[in-house]
Parts: sequence; structure tokens; C-alpha cells
Amino acid sequence: GWSMETFIPKEIARIREICGDKGQVIGAVSGGVDSSVAAKIMHEAIGDRFHAIMVDNGVLRLDEAKKVKKMLVEDLGVNLTVVDASDLFLERLQGVEDPEKKRKIIGNTFIEVFEAEAAKIEETCAADKSKGPIEWLLQGTLYPDVIESISFKGPSATIKTHHNVGGLLDDMKLKLIEPLRELFKDEVRALGRLLGIPAHLVGRHPFPGPGLAIRILGEVTRDQIKILQLADEIYIEEIRAAGLYDQISQAFAALLPVKAVGVMGDARTYEQVVALRAVSTEDFMTADWFVFPPQVLKKISSRITNEVRGINRVTYDITSKPPGTVEWL
Ligand code: XMP
Repeated sequence: GWSMETFIPKEIARIREICGDKGQVIGAVSGGVDSSVAAKIMHEAIGDRFHAIMVDNGVLRLDEAKKVKKMLVEDLGVNLTVVDASDLFLERLQGVEDPEKKRKIIGNTFIEVFEAEAAKIEETCAADKSKGPIEWLLQGTLYPDVIESISFKGPSATIKTHHNVGGLLDDMKLKLIEPLRELFKDEVRALGRLLGIPAHLVGRHPFPGPGLAIRILGEVTRDQIKILQLADEIYIEEIRAAGLYDQISQAFAALLPVKAVGVMGDARTYEQVVALRAVSTEDFMTADWFVFPPQVLKKISSRITNEVRGINRVTYDITSKPPGTVEWL
């Protein structure tokens, strides 16, 4: 019968068969569960003939690129290139406030950077007689994405833009390889555990492709990113410390474009407000706001206001979806 244990060797055999002896495969990884599990399966099947690419778009969580690199390369042995394209992304995001424009810029720039890196890998392969051309593009598509593409806000985001590297399919004539296409999320998590992917990663909340850019209300600047990264890090750290992470479907901080008055010592402060969000949901189409024990909120608020310069007020978002969305933008 069908089981996770038999799934892995069968899928590895299928991948080896379709890739042949020399064919090279490329794929984007994000540090999320799906792309990490897909990358690990590819590595088990064809080793370094799978080339993982992670694009650092400058709007990731605190030290995310470093952490993902450590996990994928050191712990899992995946052949990964991290491209730091933060300067390019942040330059293009300058002065942009509209959420859909942010999404479009990030989606398009992602594709551009990914394609440029793929072209570099293609050159290296062409120079090496033992290597074949890049023939396949890995995608971590799950079964629910196959049966009905989850629709996000706005027409440009109907498919997850950061996964939509469709140009490569035409230009480089790549074919799609989708090892997770028959699996549900909980099955991918079980698979991840079997493949030795660290527990904290397997249970990770989803993170949107446009990243912190849709959690900074207003212009995305380096200062705003830094403030939000620090606040979000403390928030998630305290959620984990309270043992609540797995009861929550998604939690994050959003940085509001307003300043409020506060007091520190005998001085008056005038700084920004952060909004904390935590929801529980089955499918992200509807969601309930999460009810925290008060002492957890108290600790989070006191740590953020004490440790993050630029924030003097913390609010908790008590809006369900609908009418609210999970993200603020
Ligand atoms: P909303 O805000 O639409 O979020 O209630 C539902 C889920 O979708 C994620 N989300 C996105 N993911 N690109 C993504 O990859 C996007 O543009 C995007 N917008 C929202 C959100 O984080 C939540 O999990």
C-alpha cells in the first residue's frame, strides 16, 4: 500500500529515470517547508546535479538567508547558491507604497535574478563535459495547488509569484518536475521529518513571497526593514518559548506608518507602532485571531518596546478573516 516510507524510494527512482545520467535540474528554495523538502528529495535522487537557488530579496526575516544556507548546505548537503540581490530589490521598491506594486516589483525582479543565476549555472555546465544541460525546473507544488490554484490578492498574484518562473520554461525550454504534486501539507511535513529536515523547519509557518514588503505599511526602507525584523524575531521567539507556535497557523509583526507619543525615563518619545498578528486557520480562506494568554502578550510587548529602537507602542490585531485578511497589505 501507499505510505510515506515507500513514497521516498519510489519518487527518487522516478526522478532518476526521468533525469537520466547527466541532466541538470534547477529550483528556487525559500527556506519554507515545501521547497526544502522538494530540494532534499532532489539531492537524494541526483546529488549535485540539482542546483538550488535562493534569492535574498532584502525583505526576508532576520538573518534568514544565512540560516537557510546553514540548514540546506550544512545539515542537508544540498548544492545551493544564495544570490544576494537586496540592493536591486530595495532600489526598485524605493518610494513605492501600493501593495500590488510592491508585489509586482518583487515578483518580476525575482524572476529576473533567478533567470540570470540559472544562465550562469548553464554556462558552468556547458564548460564541463561530464555535465549535461539544464533540462528541468523543480517546483514544490502541492496537491491543493494542482486541483485549484490558491488565489491571493490581486490578479498578478493569482499564482504565488515567487514560484512563477515561467519564462524559463519557454526560454530555456525547461520541463517541470514536481515531486510533491500528489501530497497535502501534513504529508509534506511527515516526509520532511523522514528526510531528516530539522523539526523547527518542518513545522514552520508560511511566509509570503513579497516578504516584509507587505508587512511594512508605506515605503520599504532599510531602517523600516531592520525595525520590523527585530520586532518579528522577538515575537516569534516568545511564541516558541511559550510553547504556542504549533497552535498558531501564522504569526508575524507588521509595522504601521504612524507615530505615537510615549515616555522613556523622563523624556517624551515619538515613535512607530507595531501590530502583532496571529491566526489559526485550516486553509487560510477564513481565519480566527489567536487568543493569547495575557502574560505572553505582556512579555512580548515589554521586550519589543525595550529592545527595538523606533517602536514605542505594541498593538494586537483582533480581526478575523473575513472581513480582515491575514496580511495587512
Ligand atoms: P491573506 O492576506 O490573503 O493571506 O488573507 C492568506 C495567506 O496567503 C499569504 N499571502 C501571500 N503569499 N504571496 C505569497 O506567496 C503573496 O503575495 C501573498 N499574499 C498573502 C499570507 O501570508 C497568508 O498565509
